[in-house]
Formats: sequence, structure tokens, C-alpha cells
Amino acid sequence: MKFFIDTADLSEIRELAETGLLDGVTTNPSLVAKSGRDFIALVKEICEIVPGPVSAEVAATDFDTMLEEGKFLAGLAQNIAVKVPLTPAGLKVCRILSTNGTMVNVTLCFSAAQAILAAKAGATFISPFIGRLDDVGTDGLQLIADIVQIYNQYPGFSTEVLVASVRNPTHVVEAAKMGAHVATLPPAVLRQLYNHPLTDKGLAQFVADWQKTGQSILGRG
Ligand code: E4P
Repeated sequence: MKFFIDTADLSEIRELAETGLLDGVTTNPSLVAKSGRDFIALVKEICEIVPGPVSAEVAATDFDTMLEEGKFLAGLAQNIAVKVPLTPAGLKVCRILSTNGTMVNVTLCFSAAQAILAAKAGATFISPFIGRLDDVGTDGLQLIADIVQIYNQYPGFSTEVLVASVRNPTHVVEAAKMGAHVATLPPAVLRQLYNHPLTDKGLAQFVADWQKTGQSILGRG
């Protein structure tokens, strides 16, 4: 499973890129607004930090402007994935950009039917928002299971399932068990993945027992 980081916070991206665990970055207009940064300069910087796909979302909702924005964003760096909404105009733009060799992330997916359309439009990634589905009393992970099952029926579909709106480690683990290709994680969730109380307890014991040996591994001359 690939891990993208779902943030527009450059210091978080820099820090987490150093873990060697990041395969890409996703941003959205809300995250950009929160960063307070100029969008284009921000995206260029992120693309230099992380070599994998960096999702940059169009702002327009009409076809002509969306296509123009998509082409502009695609020109910013080789690792840009243009993010378009799952609308008729967005999927038309998706088809054109992907045919021209641009990576496209189709966002705001909330149903398996929408995911089928995105695959047919040549999306590189489909982003089902599972946390937002959970929020309205629908099982977000069931949507991932459905999309993975459907895509697996059709070897011609090359679209990767990018689990979005992830809220906790269980989302990540369950989506991985289903075979989802990518999860985009808020920084806090990525950090939570490391945690287990028995790891902390076991390490404290090893450190204490090692001190009793009076030995050191380094500096032996
Ligand atoms: C995905 O690309 C989106 O940026 C993101 O996962 C949305 O998550 P949210 O529901 O926590 O805003």
C-alpha cells in the first residue's frame, strides 16, 4: 500500500518525507486555505520535496476553465496529479488530461457508481472519502471494498483506489486488507500508525536491561 500525506503544511511534509515512508502528497482547496500560502508556489515546493504524485486541485467547476487550470497545474512539475471533482465536467477534463499523459486524481467520490465512471474516464486515482461517509452514518470502508471488488473484475481498469478522508489507523489497516492501492493520511494518523503500548513497554525493558550489561556497541576501538 502506498502512503500519501494529506496536508498542505510544508513543515509537516518535510518532516514526514524524512521517514522514507511517503509516496506522495494530496492537497485540496481547504488545506491550501489553512496553509495561508500562495497555491502555485506551495505546490511547486511540495513537488520538489516529494518525488511521488502531488495532487493539486482545480478551482473552477465549468469544463473550459477547469481544463485550462488542469493544463496549467500539470505544467508546474512532472509529478503533479491534477485533482478534479467527480462531476460530468470533471470527468471530461479527466479523460482529456489522462489521454495527454497527465496523472489525474478524481476527488469527492462517494459511491461505487461514481468510481466506475472515473475508471472509464481514465483516472489515475479515484478518491473515495470514507471518513465523510462515516460521518453521515454510511460505512466508508464498505465503499472501498465495493470499488476494489469492481475494479478487480476489469483488468482494463488501471485506476488506483486512493482511500481519502482517513480518520484513524483502523481505516488504514482495513483498507489495506481489502487491497486498496493508496491511503492518503493526515499527519496525525500517520504518526498514530507507529504506536503500540507493548512496543513502548518492551523498549523500556530492553534499554534498562542493556544498561545492566555495562556494555556499548560503538567505541570499541
Ligand atoms: C483527499 O484528497 C482529501 O484531501 C481529504 O482526504 C479530505 O479529507 P477530510 O474529509 O478529512 O477533509
